[in-house]
Amino acid sequence: MNPRNIDWWKKPSLAFFHETAPNSAKVSRGLPPMTASSETCGPAIPPQLLASGFLLVGCQGGAEQALERRQQQCFPELRKAAWRRGLVSFRLPEVFSSNADEQAAVWQQAAVPPLLADRLVFARAAIRTLGQVTGDNDQQRVESARILTGQAAFAAVHVWKRDLRLALEAEPIHTALTQALGLISVPATLPTNSLILDCVIDTADRWWIGWHQSNTPADCWPGGRYPGNLPTEAVSRAWLKLDEAIARFELSLEPTQRACELGAAPGGAAQRLLAAGLEVIGVDPASIDPRVANHPRFTHWQKRARDVRVKDLRSCDWLVTDMNIDPTSTMAALERVLKTSGRRPRGVIATLKLPDWSRAEDLDGWLSRFASWGYQPRVQQLSTGGRELCVVAVRRSRRPSSKPTGQSASVTETDPVQT
Ligand SMILES: C[S@@+](CC[C@H](N)C(=O)[O-])C[C@H]1O[C@@H](n2cnc3c(N)ncnc32)[C@H](O)[C@@H]1O
Repeated sequence: MNPRNIDWWKKPSLAFFHETAPNSAKVSRGLPPMTASSETCGPAIPPQLLASGFLLVGCQGGAEQALERRQQQCFPELRKAAWRRGLVSFRLPEVFSSNADEQAAVWQQAAVPPLLADRLVFARAAIRTLGQVTGDNDQQRVESARILTGQAAFAAVHVWKRDLRLALEAEPIHTALTQALGLISVPATLPTNSLILDCVIDTADRWWIGWHQSNTPADCWPGGRYPGNLPTEAVSRAWLKLDEAIARFELSLEPTQRACELGAAPGGAAQRLLAAGLEVIGVDPASIDPRVANHPRFTHWQKRARDVRVKDLRSCDWLVTDMNIDPTSTMAALERVLKTSGRRPRGVIATLKLPDWSRAEDLDGWLSRFASWGYQPRVQQLSTGGRELCVVAVRRSRRPSSKPTGQSASVTETDPVQT
């Protein structure tokens, strides 16, 4: 199946155990079907790691209900067990008898179902739990964690707080766990399917121990939180949001390309695009910081999005939107440019601000509209953003591709339909 030709957000969940991610060429996500050869399965998972039937999913504090709603739509066979701010646990379907249905058995044998975080949208990190450890001090808890992990060969340890407001240092715990596991050095880049031990700090004296595998860039970030930093010269936090989107969706921005951002002031995202070598048009009635405005590759159109002539955007390869307006209005602004019959941007990076969490209910409708315009959308709540969603969409090529398509949303392919 060509992953670009599917409305991936609508597929029944079991199908995801049997195929690769919607746009994933570089990585194979999660476990293939149970009958697959060991060559495609990655390292064997020790049975001890599959003993518990629970998943823990980390999310932005406040997003728990939106996350649960997505789970009910996309993975109804899961049962919510408990939740705390920033963390929701789900019980896997149980295998009751020898004639257990295939779905339950697959769920039990998969580490974390492939594409779980993608489809839950509000999920940052998803791990299979091993249990909870308590104790009088870190040393006791580390020893208990070591018993839970058994002989499994972990490649790395992630220690993360379910709620960043917890006044606790993760680093000493990381050091103690790494030493206990005998991990001398962790490679900068983990091979696909590496086993990662997770220690989720729930409270000062209670940790959740679990694990996941490295299949996507975000799997290599503790708790799915983007580890990049905002440069001191950045004029707004939008710099970091765009930086995370580029890393999370593995976008290839080329120095020869042009981008237009609707809602560009004061200019952090434009700065990030300029740093990638692109030529940038920033559309915003508000002022652009002079450090961006004076850049030789930057042009400011000081107007509202609806006052821009669509034909003036024909030369743009990327359309970026980050307007603090209702998502309905953002979608209307996108439609003006993306539904046109002329040359259109090849890639879109759109921020949809959610005035309240209930607006997440509209998400499938928005994604369907991207698809109707000929774009393949992916969506995630970024760890560096607020109550908003980041949609990355790449124009589908109508020419049948002889090469396997992948998740990397490069826009270097040519589209014979355009120009
Ligand atoms: C969150 S800020 C954008 C931050 C910006 N992306 C950056 O990198 O610094 C939202 C911006 O959207 C702009 N905006 C709101 N409605 C707009 C519209 N209809 N057309 C263009 N810009 C709009 C606002 O003026 C404001 O500057």
